[in-house]
Amino acid sequence: MKKYYKIDEWSVIEEGFNPRYHEESESIFSLGNGHMGQRANFEEKYSGKTLQGTYVAGVYYPDKTRVGWWKNGYPEYFAKVANAPNWIGITVKVNDEELDLHYCKTKDFRRELNMKQGYLERSFIATFKSGNQVRVNARRILSMADDEIGAIRYSVDSVNFNGVIEITPFLDGNIFNRDANYDEKFWDVLDTGINDNKAYLKARTRKSGFEVGFCMTSEILFNGSPAEIKSETLTWPGYIGQIFKCKVSRGDNITLFKYVSVLDSLNYKPELIVSRSIQAVARARKKKFEGLFSEHANYWEESWTHSDIIIKGDPAAQQGIRFNIFQLNQTYTGRDERLNIGPKGFTGEKYGGSTYWDTEAFLIPFYLSTEPSKVARNLLIYRYKHLGKAIENALKLGYNQGAALYPMVTMTGEECHNEWEITFEEIHRNGAIAFAIYHYINYTGESEYLAEYGLEVLIALSRFWRHRVNWSDVKGKYVILGVTGPNEYENNVNNNWYTNKMAAWTLKYTIDSIEYVMNESPLAYQKIVKKTRLKYEAEIAAWKDIIGNMYFPILEERGVFLQQEGYMDKEQHMVSELSLSERPINQHWSWDRILRSVFIKQADVLQGLFCFEHEYSTDIIRRNFDFYEPRTVHESSLSPCIHSILASRIGEAEKAYELYLRTSRLDLDDYNNEVDEGLHITSMGGTWMSIVLGFGGMRVKEGMLSLSPSLPKKWNFLSFNIHFRGRILNVGITGKSTQVSLLKGDPIQVEINGKLINCRQLKIQTNDIGQNI
Ligand code: BGC
Repeated sequence: MKKYYKIDEWSVIEEGFNPRYHEESESIFSLGNGHMGQRANFEEKYSGKTLQGTYVAGVYYPDKTRVGWWKNGYPEYFAKVANAPNWIGITVKVNDEELDLHYCKTKDFRRELNMKQGYLERSFIATFKSGNQVRVNARRILSMADDEIGAIRYSVDSVNFNGVIEITPFLDGNIFNRDANYDEKFWDVLDTGINDNKAYLKARTRKSGFEVGFCMTSEILFNGSPAEIKSETLTWPGYIGQIFKCKVSRGDNITLFKYVSVLDSLNYKPELIVSRSIQAVARARKKKFEGLFSEHANYWEESWTHSDIIIKGDPAAQQGIRFNIFQLNQTYTGRDERLNIGPKGFTGEKYGGSTYWDTEAFLIPFYLSTEPSKVARNLLIYRYKHLGKAIENALKLGYNQGAALYPMVTMTGEECHNEWEITFEEIHRNGAIAFAIYHYINYTGESEYLAEYGLEVLIALSRFWRHRVNWSDVKGKYVILGVTGPNEYENNVNNNWYTNKMAAWTLKYTIDSIEYVMNESPLAYQKIVKKTRLKYEAEIAAWKDIIGNMYFPILEERGVFLQQEGYMDKEQHMVSELSLSERPINQHWSWDRILRSVFIKQADVLQGLFCFEHEYSTDIIRRNFDFYEPRTVHESSLSPCIHSILASRIGEAEKAYELYLRTSRLDLDDYNNEVDEGLHITSMGGTWMSIVLGFGGMRVKEGMLSLSPSLPKKWNFLSFNIHFRGRILNVGITGKSTQVSLLKGDPIQVEINGKLINCRQLKIQTNDIGQNI
């Protein structure tokens, strides 16, 4: 665990250039705007270790599956987020020496991710071999206000020389993915050209055929005044640049503004992409950098007013949560229901950039509470639209017609994952998709979603579970064999408690939802019956039989639910017995040793208790927490948040705090030693949950918002805003009182520490036991 970045409540700051951590910083300082994303690669050349990453949402390459031994049912390809042509590039030469921080001596290096206004800024002084020195300051934005536009202000001062500075903004399609199964090229550059001082590059992904157009135009200031410098075009296959040469004397400054538009065939007809990208970049240039910057910063200001969380008394915790919220908001804006959120967002190639169960299990709550409900709804509709493919997938694996197995990893609804223990066995993802429908309706009260979309999905999921269980004569119960639970440190287990729980719950929720739609929307119900060919009596009877007779492994003597059968046969060691040099175990132990060990990668039984907390007493939750927490290594980013929420639930505030820091600063402090590959975007939803659901104790109980706060000792104050059923509420918590303010919408009743409070006027204050004060 490093403490490399400076603590600041609104910024992440790196002081001094440390090439050892450069790839880590490229992840940490990433920018995005929902439509595209960019790792914090340098604009100028860098010959050291770097992971170049430019991504366009929804644009992927179907990389042919590579496995040791083919198994029937494996998917043909893994959808890989395609590292797109480089649009940030700016080559800098001083009297023919190229600026490259791998070779130049660097001083006063500073990099800042300013989260309040959403920009990346870098400054340094570089000394060339000749002794010539330049001072550089570069600021970059990916406009949130106009998501087709990126802009860079790149300023170079001559510190100590007279001579020529040559500065060449460029577009380069000669790029590759580090994560490519066969080292194939993912892109073909179709066209480059220059039109009225606007240089463009159009490229197409191989096989998937996405076309993306990039167009750049530049402006130069010389000592602060516009300079009419004629550029020369520099071009070779897949590359186009414009060289600007400037004679300078010591102390002179050249500032280049580079404006770039990025348009793609998800949104434009391929034949229009170039002309539209030229128009888009003209629009950007007209606004100038200041104009683009101010509308971008205004967007962030507005966004923070409804999504910020304020923590007083603990700057590291404050920085952590803002970093998480910032990354979530720049990854997904909810504008396009065809898009989803990959585990690494726009910050790296790992996981292919595709959709996992992470979205339903960890992100829906964040978007539900920080945005109007249509944003989370879009994420549900994304899965609704993939239902046909999920049914095809199940059929391909041998399940009954009408049963759906959603993919573990997907871009288009097709399964991409190809490790059998995950692809075929990590079926709990189906449970998360059902739970997200429940969660959405429970939170928003929009039960009509069931008739419109939800019920069809639930029926198909229940049909899957019905086919996936089997009757065990020995146990006299239904069992689910050969699965991988959320804990991926053991595969092919029988009766994973979490999976069995999810299955039985889905069946029950589907039956309740059928009854609801049948009564409330009979016409819609008839349509669904016809479309799904639901055989009401027979299917419901079979589902009820499974619900009533599902097997759940239990460790009676400890009073805990057992993660899976046979778990207690393992040698029972505790994480505290591991030495630091062995951790994370997935980087030090053989896979064989991990699989046989007792150590749990991520919340599994506890994930279930988190979802169904209302069904269990505090005592049961505590017993399970006390049993599993010491055995969990939290080597999935998705783990500490769930443990933190449950720790808050059982009144273990300090444990909850320790786990909160682990989730919120997971990337900033690189707990799992892997941030160079990209950020853990999806777990950031869990960080948010560990504050709002954990320390805030927020729940929705029978349609009512309820809070039962408990702050870590170190915090003097916690405040967050939530969207809830057409209202916006602000919650402010101190050690002594909780205050709920109605910022927008109609009066509402809120439960605080078990007492009902009418939230009519702007501010309601209560003490710890919920009395108005
Ligand atoms: C976790 C999975 C998760 C995936 C992507 C894995 O390490 O075990 O639960 O879906 O990462 O975040």
